Amino acid sequence: EPLIITDKDDMRRWSRSVRAQGKIVGFVPTMGYLHEGHLSLVQECKQHSNLTVVSIYVNPGQFSPNEDLSTYPSDFIGDINKLKNKAGGVDVVFHPKDLYDYGKHDGFVNAKRNDLEEGKVVSCVENSGQGHETWVRVERLEKGLCGSSRPVFFRGVATIVTKLFNIVEPDVAVFGKKDYQQWRIIERMVRDLDFGIKIIGAELLRDPDGLAKSSRNGHLSPEQRKKATSISESLFHAKTAAQKGQVVCRELKDLVIKTIHEAGGKVDYAEIVDQESLEVLEEIKCPAVFCIAAWFGNVRLLDNVEIVV
Ligand code: PAJ
Repeated sequence: EPLIITDKDDMRRWSRSVRAQGKIVGFVPTMGYLHEGHLSLVQECKQHSNLTVVSIYVNPGQFSPNEDLSTYPSDFIGDINKLKNKAGGVDVVFHPKDLYDYGKHDGFVNAKRNDLEEGKVVSCVENSGQGHETWVRVERLEKGLCGSSRPVFFRGVATIVTKLFNIVEPDVAVFGKKDYQQWRIIERMVRDLDFGIKIIGAELLRDPDGLAKSSRNGHLSPEQRKKATSISESLFHAKTAAQKGQVVCRELKDLVIKTIHEAGGKVDYAEIVDQESLEVLEEIKCPAVFCIAAWFGNVRLLDNVEIVV
């Protein structure tokens, strides 16, 4: 049975006491509605630590007011069962109610209302008028790929991960390569700000039909789901083509975009970037990753494959 902690001071106290006994604390941050992808991160984490903490918190700071915060799926009881059965034991589940609950300030609410009217990009936290105003930004890495269509997203991720790191105080933390840009951003943030936490990237886990596992997949109709496999199929096809010498990115991207369009998907972006700098490549000459975001119905799906030629 994992210990469930909801209070951030209790969380920090637990971590400090076990670390004082010489234990290595591993941490897997999540937004819940857990699937095998998350559980594979827990397994990875256990390889690098003595005790494992999983956080379950849907972070309003990384959603814009027009995004799916209110429909983001949740199943806390189911999550706890998965963490105690399949993952072979997690020590702590950190499940805070609200990490932005500092009380409301009227002046701040009004300021934000004006910002909204002026069409400024704000997150759900700012929109709700709670008193948070400090943000962590990884300025260059947060710009491309998912950052283009979700302008407050990575600022919100870097900020909540900082808050969680400051509360959980882990030695090691694991992030999935499914969210490749997120993983690279956290890695860079930890290096730039000297967090002293080891960041591990865990492999992307897929369903048998190739679709990358995601909490949002449940929102797909059976028909959409079938068509959404065109994403991974076309990515693997591009990888094979690249390895056979077809290294011009424009041509590889066109092929993938065309395949997904024909399956009824709407491509948000399809980019081949340097694995570390995430700079857009014209030709695959260095370790690269082909990243894609595409809409099927009102579900936005992410996928990527690493390509080394
Ligand atoms: P969430 O989408 O719940 O994902 C939690 C972690 O699981 C992330 O590191 C993500 O990359 C990983 N993950 C999800 N699906 C995966 C898959 N199919 N294979 C491998 N890893 C997978 O990412 C977030 O939450 C949030 O942004 C968070 C980091 C918790 C900050 O709020």
